[in-house]
Amino acid sequence: MFVCPKCGLPLNNFERIFKCPNGHCYDISSQGYVNLLLGNKKNAVHGDNKLMVSARRRFLSLGNYAVIIQKLFYIIESFGLNKNLILIDAGCGEGYYTNALTAMLDAAGYNISAYGLDVSKEAVALASKTYKNISFVVGSVNALPFSDNSADILLSVFAPISEKEFFRILKGEGILITVSPSPRHLYGLKEMVYDKVYENPPPKFASPLFNKVEEESVLSDMTLSSPEQVNDLFTMTPYFYKTGAKEQKKLQSISSLTTEIGFVFCVYKKQPYVG
Ligand SMILES: C[S@@+](CC[C@H](N)C(=O)[O-])C[C@H]1O[C@@H](n2cnc3c(N)ncnc32)[C@H](O)[C@@H]1O
Ligand SMILES: [Zn+2]
Repeated sequence: MFVCPKCGLPLNNFERIFKCPNGHCYDISSQGYVNLLLGNKKNAVHGDNKLMVSARRRFLSLGNYAVIIQKLFYIIESFGLNKNLILIDAGCGEGYYTNALTAMLDAAGYNISAYGLDVSKEAVALASKTYKNISFVVGSVNALPFSDNSADILLSVFAPISEKEFFRILKGEGILITVSPSPRHLYGLKEMVYDKVYENPPPKFASPLFNKVEEESVLSDMTLSSPEQVNDLFTMTPYFYKTGAKEQKKLQSISSLTTEIGFVFCVYKKQPYVG
């Protein structure tokens, strides 16, 4: 499944290391993940940092976005896939969806081999510490360390997409499912923090390599009843990077929040005549 990021040959698992036929070696960490990100300087921070990762862990564990798991499950069921499935969650964060979806599919009689990849070492470390039945790897969507045609289900939840790499690792009959925010997702939160509020742009992934076979939205409301929950929600979103002192101050004064939430689910299949 894993391929060597240096030479592209398959990696074999020897107890605490992965090794390719050319002798390139990658240690398995004490938490159980492998780092296959090339050009990875020690202590360099890629992707979400520790603060964001722990905020996301606290927020998601309250079940606020559990509707996403249900919907992903129903979508997968509707495609009548083989019961032996390889699932890759690209940009898995701290592994909430990877784990919950795997558990749900498992309970429904699927035999799942699940993989989670993220560029953030902090996220992957926390994921693999918690979810032992899933193989987690540090890597980038732009150079996925998986063999060609390996995934039956490729998942991308609020995460970046690489059309070429996604095309390469998805099986011919496999499905790519993306989840992105609906136009008014978290509108109420933005109204409380920003002077001028814009709707989120629609999902922009369109590629000649893929056919979109389904698009559906799930819209709802969410109420958070403590300042800690509001702060965690804000910290796990991209707004966290973009917010100045004035908005931070406004954020700290919010003790509860009701906001619209919404998720757009798109399903893609590989174009049969490409590659
Ligand atoms: C908004 S978070 C979503 C995480 C998870 N899917 C979830 O919904 O809980 C986006 C994730 O993409 C990761 N990410 C950003 N750039 C990436 C890249 N080039 N390759 C892989 N992951 C990346 C971040 O580290 C972060 O964990
Ligand atoms: Zn190698």
